[in-house]
Order: sequence, then structure tokens, then C-alpha cells
Amino acid sequence: MKNKKKLRRSGAKIMASLVLLLGSLAYIMLLAVINGTLGFISAMGVSLFGAIGIAKFLGESIAVSYWVLIALAVGCGVLRGLLRYFEQYSNHYIAFRLLATLRDKIFASLRELCPAKLESKQKGSIIAMITSDIETLEVFYAHTISPICIAVIFSLIITIFVAIVSGPWLALVAVCAYLFIGIAVPMISSGMLKESGVNYRCEFSSFNAYFLDSIKGVKDIVLNNAGEKREKEVNARSDVLLRETKKMKHNTTAAAAFTELSVSFAILITLIVGIVLVSANAISLGRMIIGVVAVFSSFGPVIAISALPGNLTQTFASGDRVLDLLEEKPVVNAVKDGEKIEYNNLKVENLSFSYDSQTQVLNDICMHAQKGEIVGIVGESGCGKSTFLKLLLRFWQKTGGSICYNGIDIDNINSDNLLDNVTMVSQVTYLFDESIEDNLRIAKANATDEELEHACRLASVHDFIMTLPEGYKTRVGALGDNLSAGEKQRIGLARAFLSGSELILLDEPTSNVDSINEGIILKALKEQKNKKSIILVSHRESTMAIADRIYRVEAGKMTALK
Ligand SMILES: Nc1ncnc2c1ncn2[C@@H]1O[C@H](COP(=O)(O)OP(=O)(O)OP(=O)(O)O)[C@@H](O)[C@H]1O
Ligand SMILES: [Mg+2]
Repeated sequence: MKNKKKLRRSGAKIMASLVLLLGSLAYIMLLAVINGTLGFISAMGVSLFGAIGIAKFLGESIAVSYWVLIALAVGCGVLRGLLRYFEQYSNHYIAFRLLATLRDKIFASLRELCPAKLESKQKGSIIAMITSDIETLEVFYAHTISPICIAVIFSLIITIFVAIVSGPWLALVAVCAYLFIGIAVPMISSGMLKESGVNYRCEFSSFNAYFLDSIKGVKDIVLNNAGEKREKEVNARSDVLLRETKKMKHNTTAAAAFTELSVSFAILITLIVGIVLVSANAISLGRMIIGVVAVFSSFGPVIAISALPGNLTQTFASGDRVLDLLEEKPVVNAVKDGEKIEYNNLKVENLSFSYDSQTQVLNDICMHAQKGEIVGIVGESGCGKSTFLKLLLRFWQKTGGSICYNGIDIDNINSDNLLDNVTMVSQVTYLFDESIEDNLRIAKANATDEELEHACRLASVHDFIMTLPEGYKTRVGALGDNLSAGEKQRIGLARAFLSGSELILLDEPTSNVDSINEGIILKALKEQKNKKSIILVSHRESTMAIADRIYRVEAGKMTALK
């Protein structure tokens, strides 16, 4: 299925917003434009001084010697190289500085938007944004803005020069040629390229997504003996992609040829007009040669514009996605100047919540928890238990009611302070490709080795870690996928014990461990009870046995059982 997506903003709006992001780097862009324009003038100088030499030879009164003209031509050649270098240097300096700033902005936005954003949107598209979209914008900043400015300024200068030296008619021809090659040709070729460009991008990303998905799910494909069918689909999609690539390449080449043809045509017209003007005695042969050579050698910048459309479609799509993210409002705003607490008790009253403002997941929920007790929560799969725990951490904004810690509503508590007080071990623990030790220390950066060991003993995972080749220093990546779900879960639990949080939320902490380890973990939880409060979600009756009080969630309501 094709996932064609229309841009939310117009090309001009995207371009304006991206230029605004330049901020204080705008003066370097100005430098790039000046260097680029002077560079093209120098390049033109080489042929122009040659033409002036010929005009002098033909009897034009030119007050400089041939040697000076040769020296000027050579000087222009050298200068051209230097100016081009500075232009490219400035452009790339801006581009890479801006990319770093943009990445920083994206990460800052993600910090605001997560965890709700990371839960609801595909993580893949965010990764694509940080990598390929940002790279595409490099093309915009380094190879789009300044070429357009350079083309406008340079063409203007040449037109004035030709008007002064060779009269208004040749200047008029030059203006028409610039407008045609710089505006009409790009518009025509962008029309030619647009459909194939968009189709190619669509097929490319759809093929990538399907292929990556297949690799991720290879185990389930094998288990269901669906390999052959999958392979057929991959091949079919690959053929479609190849067809679209060929179409796109064919059109790009046709567009490039069309530009070249237009330039040749413009040169021919200029020459004809020049010859007509000379035969009508409107200008001298020498002045005609200077003017015509000036126009001949001035198409470089406008040709550069013709080459833009192919890139621009992609740039706009990338820019649109990046701007979308930068402008997205977080579901939950971090509380920065709220109150600070030291957890003592929790009271939830008439709490209601819905993810999409249509289906109510939790409705009118009341519960409470005290320091020093274990509160259990049971309920059928999908009834909203994990959602409830996430609300206690303010990962999502509650729709109604109150969640009060020490009598203060969660919306008025400093976000950082809240996370210092409350931690959660979720149903799936993510381990980074670092050592076990580093993975534990994300809960407490300055934990001593003794503290790590103590937490791991409590979570019943110390003995297991000691069996690994390098103990606590073993890299998780080196183990491949060999850590079992239960082992990962227990490391997650050790993290919770290690963190200084007073209230620990446990989402199915024993779902993946055997009854011996369950016993050890429950014993540890009981021992922690005097120091910490625990809210425990579990399906297992054996686990629930340690709870002091139990609530059941059913149809969005919570009722006290024990
Ligand atoms: N990010 C989300 N966006 C929209 N709906 C969601 C989101 N997360 C969960 N839900 C929906 O909210 C409901 C409650 O989900 P939740 O994960 O809280 O259930 P649960 O009680 O923890 O289930 P389980 O016992 O299987 O873990 C489900 O219908 C689920 O599909
Ligand atoms: Mg759950």
C-alpha cells in the first residue's frame, strides 16, 4: 500500500521557516553569497578579458595593454578558486552548525514530548528523522539558499554590465534567457520530476519498512513457515522499487538534457541578436563580442537553480516533518517551578483518563496508599492497570480527578522531584548495550559496587550476574539476545531498589520468573516494606499474597477487595 502523504505546509512556508532557523548564522550565509557571486564574476572575468583583448584587436579603443588583460584573466582564474573555496566553506560551516543545533532542538523536543510520544508514535519514524531527514536538510542549507541568491544577484550584475557595454537589446535577451532557464525550466522540470520523485520516495520507504519489519519478525516467519510467501512479497516490492527508480532516473536525465538544450538555445539567440545589431550598425563588433561572451559565460548560477527541483521535493518533505516535531505540543508539560515533596502517602480521588478523549480507560477511580504498605492491583488484561501506574508518574495528563502525594496534586509537583520519589519497573525492561554495571547505574549514577551488589541480591539476580564471563562488567550486547525475560526483569527490579525512590510501582514484577525466584523477590519486597511503599500489579495470586490491601480494576472502575 502506498503511503503518499501531502505536505502540511506550502514549499514557501517551509523554506521561510527553515531560513528563520538560521538566526545569527545569517551573516555567514551573506558571506557565502558574496563570495559565490564574486566567484562567478571572476570565472566570467577569464573569458571576458579574452573577449576584451579580441575587441581591442578589432579596433575598439581599450586603454589597457594586452599583457595587463592576460594578467587580469589569470588573476581572475586564481581568484575564482579561492572565492569558490570560501563560498563552499561558509555554506558547509552553516549547514553543519545548523544540523547540530537542529539535532539539539529535536532532542529537546523529544525530552518534552516523551514518554507519551515515544509510546504512541512509531519509534522508527523518529529515528529516521534524527538521521536521514536532518541529512537532507544539509542539502538545503549548503546547496540551496545561497545558489538562489547568487543566481539572482549575479544575473542582475551581468544584465547591467551588458546594458552598459553592448546596449539594451542584448541586455533584454540576457534577462529573458535568465528568467527562462532560472524560473520556467525549473518549473517545467519540477512538474516532470514531481510525480516520479514522490513515487520513488514512497516506494523506497515502504520497501525499507517492509524489509526491516521482516528481519525483525524473522523468528515468527520461520515459526509459521511463512518464509516463501514473505520472500515473494519482498521480491515483488523490490521489482516495483526498481521500476520507480528507472522512471525517476529517466526523468532526471530528461530534465537535465532539457536544461542544456535551453542554454544552447539561449546562446544561439544571443548570438543572432548580436549579429543583427552589428549588421544594423547599432553597436560595434568589439562591443558585441564582449556582450555576447558575457552572456555566454553567465549561465552557471541559473543552471544551478535548474538542478534544484529534484532535491527540493525531498528537502521540503524532510523540513515539514522536522518542523512538525519542533512545533508539536507535548501531551504533558513538565512542571518546573512546582512544589517538592518527600513521599509519605498517596491519595487518588475520582480519577478519570482517556488516551483519545473518546474511549474512557479509567473512570472515577479512588484509592490510597501509605508509606510502609504494599498495595496490590489486579484486573483483566487491558483493563488499564499499566495506564494507572503511568498516570501516577504523570507520563500522561489525567482527564479528571486528583492524584495527591502528601496532599499535593501531581500537576503541582516538580516533575524531576516526582521522579525522584516514584519509580516504576515496567512490564518490559530495556537494557542498553553497555555493561550490566552501567545498566544498573542509570538508576543511581554514583552507586558503589557494594550498593549494586546489595540491590542485585534483593532482586535475586546477583548469583546469575556472577555466572557471566565478566560478572558485573559483562556487556549486555556481548550476550546477544541471551538474557531471558526473567533475568531482564530482575535487573529492572534491582534498578528500582537502587534508586532512592520511596514509592516503587511494579508492573507484573514476577510474570517471567519461576516460583523459587518469585519467592526470593517477594521476600525482598517484604523486607523493603518498612523503608519503601510498593504498588504492585500482578495476575498471580501467589504474588498478591504479600499485598496488605488489594484493589480490582474492572470496566474502568477500581474497587477495594481486601
Ligand atoms: N499509548 C496508548 N494509546 C492508546 N491506547 C492505549 C495506549 N496504551 C494502552 N492503551 C489502551 O488502553 C487500555 C489499557 O491498557 P493497559 O496497558 O493499561 O492495560 P493493562 O491492564 O496493563 O493490561 P495487561 O494486563 O495486559 O498489561 C487498553 O485497551 C490499551 O489498548
Ligand atoms: Mg499492563
